[in-house]
Amino acid sequence: MYTTEFLDLPSLASAAGSVRLPGSKSISNRVLLLAALSQGTTTLHDLLDSDDTRVMLDALHTLGCGVQPRQVQPGAPLRITGLGGQLPVGAAATLFLGNAGTAMRPLTAALAVLGGHFQMTGIARMYERPIGDLVDALRQLGCCIDYLGTPGYPPLQIAPPDFSRFPQAPIQVRGDVSSQFLTALLMALPLLATERDITIEVVGELISKPYIHITLELLARFGIRVANHDWQRFVIPAGSRYQSPGEIHVEADASSASYFIALGAIAASPEGQKGIKIEGVGLDSIQGDIRFVEAARAMGAAITGGPNWLQVQRGRWPLQAIDLDCNHIPDAAMTLAVMALYAQGTTTLRNIASWRVKETDRIAAMATEARKLGAVVEEGADFIRITPPQDARAWRAASIHTYDDHRVAMCFSLAAFNPAGLPVRIEDPKCVAKTFPDYFEALFTLVQPSAPAPVICIDGPTASGKGTVATLVAQRLGFALLDSGALYRIAGLAARRASIPLEEAHAQRIADLVGTLDIVFAPDQRVLLGGEDITLDIRTEEAGMNASRVSAFAAVRQALLQLQRDFRRLPGLVADGRDMGTTIFPDAPLKVFLTASAECRAQRRFKQLIDKGLPANMRDLLADLQARDARDMQRSASPLRPAEDAEHWDNSAERTVEDAVQQVLTWWQQRQPFAHVI
Ligand code: DC
Repeated sequence: MYTTEFLDLPSLASAAGSVRLPGSKSISNRVLLLAALSQGTTTLHDLLDSDDTRVMLDALHTLGCGVQPRQVQPGAPLRITGLGGQLPVGAAATLFLGNAGTAMRPLTAALAVLGGHFQMTGIARMYERPIGDLVDALRQLGCCIDYLGTPGYPPLQIAPPDFSRFPQAPIQVRGDVSSQFLTALLMALPLLATERDITIEVVGELISKPYIHITLELLARFGIRVANHDWQRFVIPAGSRYQSPGEIHVEADASSASYFIALGAIAASPEGQKGIKIEGVGLDSIQGDIRFVEAARAMGAAITGGPNWLQVQRGRWPLQAIDLDCNHIPDAAMTLAVMALYAQGTTTLRNIASWRVKETDRIAAMATEARKLGAVVEEGADFIRITPPQDARAWRAASIHTYDDHRVAMCFSLAAFNPAGLPVRIEDPKCVAKTFPDYFEALFTLVQPSAPAPVICIDGPTASGKGTVATLVAQRLGFALLDSGALYRIAGLAARRASIPLEEAHAQRIADLVGTLDIVFAPDQRVLLGGEDITLDIRTEEAGMNASRVSAFAAVRQALLQLQRDFRRLPGLVADGRDMGTTIFPDAPLKVFLTASAECRAQRRFKQLIDKGLPANMRDLLADLQARDARDMQRSASPLRPAEDAEHWDNSAERTVEDAVQQVLTWWQQRQPFAHVI
């Protein structure tokens, strides 16, 4: 996840590849409970791993279900062996359900029906979330549920039911507070419908019908066919019995899929590739937002698909404007607003009044940000009308404000395909965490930039502070980092370990060895060589000296050239090392040369070593440094010198690291076309 202040997306040219989207939360917890109530073992694929699913799994395990493995493991299926609609006699447990409404409500209903002694608990916030309407409905049947705290709220005490006065009349439940109450009843009452029909009647207007649709679809997959009478009465037929479907795939969130559907429709595919494959959600999806596919097709997307997958390519290009009532796909329709920027004509999205009361006023937000890009936008109480920039010259480079709204951020990332070749800045990119923490990472695996990703080179003599400055600049911008010095240190270490003398005559052997090394820069800053942690071994003074020696050999430099260039990636790279701007990335848009006096650098190195608990001596350090400077400057292969177009910064004692970082960021900002600086 990018936690930077902003994320600059360079102009993007094309996209292809496949993306697997995370499983939907509401489907995950429903299928877990349904599998638990069924007879037999159900194999669940693509279950979401989240706080809510974890508490559900723990609860099912406590209740005696088989849970294999005990936790969701990425890419691996999970097997639930169900209770077959029955708990062991005398079952009793305290279940902790965190803040998971999707676990508390359905489990309460199921356990109250099955019988046993249970305490249903959670975190403090759970005790502020109402459950009274569900408890009232269950008490009509003869279920025995008591409040342990505030009436109407968890925690709850459940005791075995008394069904002797089971009502003939329909069970009533309110539908206007949370559709989860109805979902809970729909999943629990089939356990009682062995010999008679059971009818549930909704009191008040039913909200969130698409979620009830999901419940009904999933029930059907587990053998329970509920008759839906106009969303007001639901009849569970006599003879209902939970049956495991054997295997079930948890769908990904269909709203999240809309960004990748749009990506496929907007981006050209590179030669020989066929657009975007989306795995995790398919044309048979039970989620309401899957109907985004129809709207995207109407705009020109070429979409094929099957169970659990979609394939999207550019079809008609440019896209075609549409005029659409979007009431059935309120969330995914925001993605249509961005597709409209690439359409011929004016797109009108209607019946979207609910946008005004979401994470932010989404009509105002989409209008404001689309205008920044050069579109002409009209907005009304319940519609938005978008006319794209007239031609490439009318597009503007914009810094997109995201209003703490994940969907605004994801939508506008697609503006980076603009025909003007302009970058797009997404402010506060971490807001995507609400539904898709790794959205930008997923996007970057699919897209190719119009020009190689930007590089900021930070060169300078040893101990000039360039490593620290480069690390911080990379963090602030969300860029990757290349510590090229570490590569030479690794080369020196590997040569030493292989007992190759560090002499010119053996340069080719060292270069050949470098080509075979398995080097990993781990996200936690550790450096691994052939799986061994060498983070500290390459930081000693001796390792520095060895690096200085091997780095003078042209063959070794050549062996490391492509390895270094391969670090270049989206959204950008900060490359630290003395020839970054001159040899490795001569086309870098920003090159910085840091200097500092030898005394100042020796002092810095001294402090670094002492901080790491390594032995150090100021006089030796200074002498070593001067010797190394001399060798680095005089050598014939990439001698230490600034690139001609480098910006210079004297990083001596009175200047702090933060001063240097700010200066580099300022130079970077000056090179960006964004009018709006945040
Ligand atoms: O920056 P450092 O101290 O980690 O670098 C170790 C040695 O590697 C140093 O003597 C210079 C050399 N080096 C190089 O020649 N070219 C680079 N791009 C980086 C480091």
